Amino acid sequence: MKTFNIALIPGDGIGPEVVAEGVKILKAIESLDSEISFTFTEFSWGCEYYLENGRMMAEDGIERLRAFDAIYLGAVGYPGVPDHISLWDLLLRIRKEFDQYVNIRPITLLNPSLTPLKDKTEKEIDFLVIRENSEGEYAGAGDWLFKGKPEEVVLQTGVFSRKGTERIIRYAYEEARKSKRTLTSISKGNALNYSMVFWDEVFEEVGKEYPDVQTYSYLVDAASLYFVTEPERFEVVVTSNLFGDILTDIGAAITGGMGLATGANINPERNFPSMFEPVHGSAPDISGKGIANPIAAIWSVSQMMDFFGKEQWGATILATIKEILKEKESLTPDLGGTATTQELGDRIVEILCIQA
Ligand code: NAI
Ligand code: MG
Repeated sequence: MKTFNIALIPGDGIGPEVVAEGVKILKAIESLDSEISFTFTEFSWGCEYYLENGRMMAEDGIERLRAFDAIYLGAVGYPGVPDHISLWDLLLRIRKEFDQYVNIRPITLLNPSLTPLKDKTEKEIDFLVIRENSEGEYAGAGDWLFKGKPEEVVLQTGVFSRKGTERIIRYAYEEARKSKRTLTSISKGNALNYSMVFWDEVFEEVGKEYPDVQTYSYLVDAASLYFVTEPERFEVVVTSNLFGDILTDIGAAITGGMGLATGANINPERNFPSMFEPVHGSAPDISGKGIANPIAAIWSVSQMMDFFGKEQWGATILATIKEILKEKESLTPDLGGTATTQELGDRIVEILCIQA
């Protein structure tokens, strides 16, 4: 019997609503598999906590999270707290402190009705984006000079270290080798004459160690076009923090939208906990109504199971989501159904028990 200790940070808005459904899935797995058990420790950090305490998480928050096997996060951000504070002081802080330098986003179409792309099916839309998650354009480096004056200047610096660039590219090559898929690097070496020329060089250098991996290299603008017109070109994709952020939203758009998109923040060395979360935010427009789609948060649980080495469960959860997507009336309103968040979660648990 293996016990996995999970820190829950439900966060704000619809975060707690969808995390509750993910926890239902975890509890179902626990009851179906005598080899696995979970402990859950909830932390009520987020914007409400901020309004009371002047900070997004407890002062010793990082220390308290350190010993967990994984962090399961809903969403943060709410009107009344500036987004750059809620994002930097909780989410980005955890990603940085725990060196979660790999962001994994599956772009997989689970039902043909979900894509707005004409003539594209599950066969054409099935790839993995590996996004650099620790530096690049989101390093927080820059300057704001002569604030408010006519000569005002702001600088936002893209930070690309050799260590940081090599390790994400190496991770992607390993993934491509392991799964026998092609690897596509997405950059912009023609315009970003330092950072992306360097990125392209490192991609080529590291590639010498992986002669078995077939590679492609695209400029980000062309790649955006191909995401929409020829997604079948992609199998494993590696890209920088900013490009990955934008490209994966296109990925979400072609696979069913925000209610389905998921992402894992991984520390591959396992020196620190990794973090699993839906890609969507706190959705203030629908929070409290009980209609948030929990599938993205449940897909995160599938990624968590893969990370725990329980790939069988990861696959079973995905197969279950695939099944539920065939039952239109069991889905939440964003997918054209009439179910509540909890009803959909309950139905997913039912199907999971049948699949398992
Ligand atoms: P959002 O993802 O919260 O919402 C965008 C749109 O998608 C809304 O119309 C919303 O109703 C819909 N939507 C999102 N998730 C859904 C779900 N599970 N089911 C059904 N519909 C869903 O993005 P938005 O509105 O730009 O940001 C709202 C707040 O969330 C902001 O404070 C922002 O900073 C924060 N945010 C937090 C993130 C995180 O915690 N990882 C990521 C993105 C935004
Ligand atoms: Mg984003």
